[in-house]
Amino acid sequence: MARLLITGGAGFIGSHTCVVLLQAGHNLLVLDDFSNSTPLALKRVSALAQLDSQSSQVRLQVRRGDIRDQAYLDALFSKAASEGAPIDAVIHFAGLKAVGESVREPLHYWDVNLTGSRCLLDAMNAHGCHTLVFSSSATLYGYPERVPIPETAPIQPINPYGHSKAAVEQLLQDLAASAANQWRIACLRYFNPVGAHPSGKIGEDPLGTPNNLFPFLSQVAVGRRESLQVFGGDWPTSDGTCIRDYIHVMDLAEGHQAALDCLLAEPTQLLTLNLGSGQGASVLEVVHAFERASGRQVPYDLVARRDGDAAITVADPALALQRLGWQTQRDLDDICRDGWAWQSANPAGYNDPG
Ligand code: UD1
Repeated sequence: MARLLITGGAGFIGSHTCVVLLQAGHNLLVLDDFSNSTPLALKRVSALAQLDSQSSQVRLQVRRGDIRDQAYLDALFSKAASEGAPIDAVIHFAGLKAVGESVREPLHYWDVNLTGSRCLLDAMNAHGCHTLVFSSSATLYGYPERVPIPETAPIQPINPYGHSKAAVEQLLQDLAASAANQWRIACLRYFNPVGAHPSGKIGEDPLGTPNNLFPFLSQVAVGRRESLQVFGGDWPTSDGTCIRDYIHVMDLAEGHQAALDCLLAEPTQLLTLNLGSGQGASVLEVVHAFERASGRQVPYDLVARRDGDAAITVADPALALQRLGWQTQRDLDDICRDGWAWQSANPAGYNDPG
């Protein structure tokens, strides 16, 4: 059992990972600025982990704060130590992830994603905490030269969001190569995280119009939006639509648990791993799987390609299996069933009382 700081723990991937880590017996301190999430998600996490109000105060503590606030982070680590419950490891989800927004506001993306990570690492180092799981992204591979993509593929991001993730990975590599290195670091390169907890109590709840396929599709199915635009029907794939490696968010959450266990059990190291299923699905395959799961028709229009999309991205997940003994357990039908459980019970996301 460890005491873990979870930055961005109220977000989509963070909240699902919190459930898994609580069920594994860890005590969590969540730090979130709630700029793209809500404290309500953590109330539901607490209920899903079956914490009563008393144990919740110890096992799932929540702080509102900004990872760029160095003094705040220092105080957080100091207070934890002075209370006799120092932070053993950090899982760092906090960050910005909208590609289009990153092109419009590169300074903001570099500030939150890179400066925020640097402040966090500084505080960790100052307080003797050297174990970190970092949310990286398959976006680092840009337009991949071959699929499935191994971790050794060239790093060639094509937008400021991707550049900021690559910069943090570089910083972590520099730390791992430093003299007297004490760091245990896992960079987890996520493919396309989708789906929801099978209870339907927590899920993805983007602010405004979703940029990504799965939340957009779910909102069409539930009647919140009229129709889906499918970006490009002339890609060099079997049905002409792009292929991605969709990974169930609970598989992803379990991947974090496995990475953490590995870091805590083994000596100093830098692990860089793809987290994906190794299976590709086209946009239309996802649409049809979602229609089957929901029993609803999803109207769509084929429109022009979106700038910056690659035809096919699929993970080679072999290294994660070898190093962590982890592989995905859930398929596209499970993803759609659980995603629909969330969306149908919470048509307006966390704004719903459900
Ligand atoms: C996107 C980002 C990626 C980021 C990830 C984070 C881009 C180019 N890539 O991945 O850097 O790490 O989100 O979650 O933005 N699609 C439609 N209609 C829609 C939305 C999407 O047809 O309304 C298609 C896209 O063209 C793509 C597929 O669905 O082929 C998946 O898109 P999306 O969910 O946005 O994920 P990525 O683009 O793979």
